[in-house]
Amino acid sequence: MCGIVGYTGGRRASEIVYRGLEELEYRGYDSAGIASLENGNIYTVKRRGRVKSLDGLISDLDGNTAVGHTRWATHGKPSDKNAHPHVCGKFALVHNGIIENCEELKKMYFSGVEFDSETDSEVIVRLIDLFYDGDILSALKNTASLLKGSYAVALICADFDGLAVMKRNNPAIIGYGDGENFVASDAPALSRCKTITILKDGDIALVTKDGVNIFDENLQGVIRERIKNLAEPSSLELGDCPHYMLKEIREVPATVVNTCSAYLSAEQKIKEVLSGVNRIIITGCGTAYNAGLLGKRYVELIAGIPAEAEIAGEFRYKRPIVDSKTLVLAVSQSGETADTVEAAKLARSLGGKVIAVTNSPYSELVRLSDATAPVAAGPEICVAATKSYVGQVAALYLFANTLAGEPIEKCIGELEAVSPLCKKTIEHIEISSLADMCARSNGVYFLGRDTDYAVATEGSLKLKEISYIAGDGYPAGELKHGTLALIDIKTVSVFIITRKELAEKNVNAVEQVLSRRGKAAVVTNIESVCEKLRKRAEIIRIPECPENLSPLISVTVLQMLAYNTALLLERDPDKPRNLAKSVTVE
Ligand code: F6R
Repeated sequence: MCGIVGYTGGRRASEIVYRGLEELEYRGYDSAGIASLENGNIYTVKRRGRVKSLDGLISDLDGNTAVGHTRWATHGKPSDKNAHPHVCGKFALVHNGIIENCEELKKMYFSGVEFDSETDSEVIVRLIDLFYDGDILSALKNTASLLKGSYAVALICADFDGLAVMKRNNPAIIGYGDGENFVASDAPALSRCKTITILKDGDIALVTKDGVNIFDENLQGVIRERIKNLAEPSSLELGDCPHYMLKEIREVPATVVNTCSAYLSAEQKIKEVLSGVNRIIITGCGTAYNAGLLGKRYVELIAGIPAEAEIAGEFRYKRPIVDSKTLVLAVSQSGETADTVEAAKLARSLGGKVIAVTNSPYSELVRLSDATAPVAAGPEICVAATKSYVGQVAALYLFANTLAGEPIEKCIGELEAVSPLCKKTIEHIEISSLADMCARSNGVYFLGRDTDYAVATEGSLKLKEISYIAGDGYPAGELKHGTLALIDIKTVSVFIITRKELAEKNVNAVEQVLSRRGKAAVVTNIESVCEKLRKRAEIIRIPECPENLSPLISVTVLQMLAYNTALLLERDPDKPRNLAKSVTVE
């Protein structure tokens, strides 16, 4: 959610920052901008729209030090003037986060002053300029002490040949080069740097081409670990895929296998954390929460331990009951999602244990957790989560088996056997007719029972977010308790039916839809279901596999459905309107 990049060194900074912004664009794409320092002068270009809207403008920026920003609007609509960097006096600043007391600060320090933008970020650069008397560090310290909310800030100053950085509750990572240094919102954007430092909350850093000095909030010099950057480059290569979404769905089979190997190295630590635990809460947002719904069922079905799944934004405000025997699994692709990170912090502060289930080894979530169940999906560029969801489900399946005391090699074998079935499904799926039905519909409902219901929630979210077609994911048994009123000839109901003992009940629900003239489709691996509904519902046949693992396959069908429907409606599946990856604000 908003990407910040900074460079200082011997090369043309604007080009390097531009490339960094391209790599971070999934964090927001409402507007973009770069400010460059040249002979003590600051030059800024910024535009509403995507990073490429800066093409042709950056050729005028010659300096060797620059900051850049790609925005997901919070305060103030997407526009040229609301785009970052914001400039005041000798400073140009980029910001990721939200300043909650911005109006208060404006009243207190800038009464009668007309701001250039409607953003909360501008108040930061104005405060820094106000407090600046030749000492950048003090100006930053004084500003930071007034800010409420979250920020990762990078700035350039006409008097200083380098970058200044400060952060609280949003990520800022320093990358080290040879005679040059970098700052960025996440590690994959720094993949050309062999080593990195992850700044801590309250840190203020001065970065020059020759070195990095880090201070705490009282301006005491601190040493922060310089670690090897293991992040894979966020490859912008699409290969033969027209979109990242398709590329990433095709990476699902590898994600399953890689998550298994990563889990193997993490299992011992996870076992240690499990000691004394008698209650499991799984939390996350959006797709990660939907994976948590499956995780809950895995814990119950496999380990026989009651588990709860809670939306992180609800969990953190409901005064949750957590004690030292409670384990919270915090699921997050980015490891940065504000609600999930805060939920995990809260659980720890109440004495609970936390395991992060995440794709981001350097994230805040990993740092605050007792252990990590790694998701080895690699960087995910498409805003809609696909391979990371499947990786999360695989990690939760492995976790449930560890909890149950099952030999992990056996479960890994099961998952590895499912991986080629996912591949087969993705490669051979015939989804165009159902996508066409959905694209023409007034609403699409996804229905299933038990684990199939969990998959239905994700199918619905995927379709909504990239095609903008309204709908819902529902337990099939609930249909007759309300949703049936919505069914008519213009709606499509997609049933997921993979649990044999529940197949009959689900077929009844399909019949209820058909008798209201609704259109129905069924994603199933059960022959009797196909026979009963042949010619009356659109049937998508998927390969058979152990029942608990069918979600890994059925969800790829729903991901492909969402992708193909979005294409029919001429939506951009990689960058859906109004959204961004990594929701670092509340
Ligand atoms: C949907 C999607 C979002 C994220 C949610 C949590 O496709 O990507 O719903 O799942 O914002 O993000 P993470 O997993 O990074 O915590």
